[in-house]
Amino acid sequence: MRKLEIAVAGAGLIGRRHIELILSSTECQLSAIVDPAPGAAAIAASTNVPLYPTLSEMFAAHRPDGVVLAIPNHLHVDHALECIRAGVGALVEKPVAHTLEAGRRLCDIAERTRARILVGHHRVHSSVLATASEIVGQGTLGRLVAVVGSAMFYKPDDYFDEAWRRQAGGGPILINMIHEIGNLRALCGDIVAVQALASNATRGFAVEDTVAITFRFANDALGTFMLSDTAASARSWEQTSQENKSYATYPDEDCYVVVGTDGSLAVPTMRLKTYPRREDRSWWKPFETRVVPIHRADPLERQLVHFCAVLRDEVAPRVSVRDGLQNLRVTEAIAEAARGGKLVLIPEAS
Ligand SMILES: NC(=O)c1ccc[n+]([C@@H]2O[C@H](COP(=O)([O-])OP(=O)(O)OC[C@H]3O[C@@H](n4cnc5c(N)ncnc54)[C@H](O)[C@@H]3O)[C@@H](O)[C@H]2O)c1
Repeated sequence: MRKLEIAVAGAGLIGRRHIELILSSTECQLSAIVDPAPGAAAIAASTNVPLYPTLSEMFAAHRPDGVVLAIPNHLHVDHALECIRAGVGALVEKPVAHTLEAGRRLCDIAERTRARILVGHHRVHSSVLATASEIVGQGTLGRLVAVVGSAMFYKPDDYFDEAWRRQAGGGPILINMIHEIGNLRALCGDIVAVQALASNATRGFAVEDTVAITFRFANDALGTFMLSDTAASARSWEQTSQENKSYATYPDEDCYVVVGTDGSLAVPTMRLKTYPRREDRSWWKPFETRVVPIHRADPLERQLVHFCAVLRDEVAPRVSVRDGLQNLRVTEAIAEAARGGKLVLIPEAS
């Protein structure tokens, strides 16, 4: 099988991870880098591929099978549209757009032209999340009642040296919570309403540092979520899933507990507690408990394999522009709820 040619636009923090994965893939090869920053020349030289300052200049000289857009958020939509016009598939990093309006525009055009656009919510490709979603989907927990989640971690103080990270929009709601929304929707289905209470009392910056969120899902289950980037805790996906080796990991901690009428699942320890029989459902009776085995794999690597299948027209994108837009819609609803102290209703994705 011919190796697909993939270019990476944006050789920054996450772009370099994509480059490494493409270089070690058996399905695709790196064909070019697009980045106007002077630092990109050394990366292009070390990977032995041409470097272009803009996407248009690359397309004038070379049409790869796909492009990874690992560029700043405000450029996602325009660059994805440029890929669509060139007839080239794209993996657009999350968030799919910097505004809902721009995201809707991209969604309309991508759907109308049946463009091959995958949004980079890479956790959807996590085998831990896939196994947990399967257990919930099979009805092992019974009727879904609730989910309790957390993303509580401590970002080092020098992270806030960059001014934009201290201002509204640069905080954990828009940066981190969008990943959690993707996970919660994969586990429990669509979110139809949110309420939130935010605080900046600990760090004292204009941006929030801690947020308490409540959700209503379309299936009537409820959820609570604690988000904080100033909490000395390991209760986050990053520190418990063992998927990103850059973080210290704590395999005995959970970040979600999904609860139904017949049982509960702690994620990612995958401790499952269920009542053996319907008539045993009582807090006086013991659960059957077991740990569901999981095979761990790098979700970014699995995402690349999936992107290759999308480029070969073998599968539809697992995270479409519409899905990415819905994750953004819920995330923005949390910010709105926190600002206004009110319930915010969310229209469903389709
Ligand atoms: N999936 C994830 O877990 C994850 C993690 C980190 C970042 N991201 C997303 O990836 C994107 C990039 O984030 P980052 O942290 O790597 O940022 P970064 O600032 O480290 O890198 C961005 C790169 O894009 C380059 N760039 C700027 N304008 C460009 C243009 N017009 N054409 C080509 N390149 C251009 C910059 O020179 C820089 O090298 C963001 O949208 C971010 O939200 C996703």
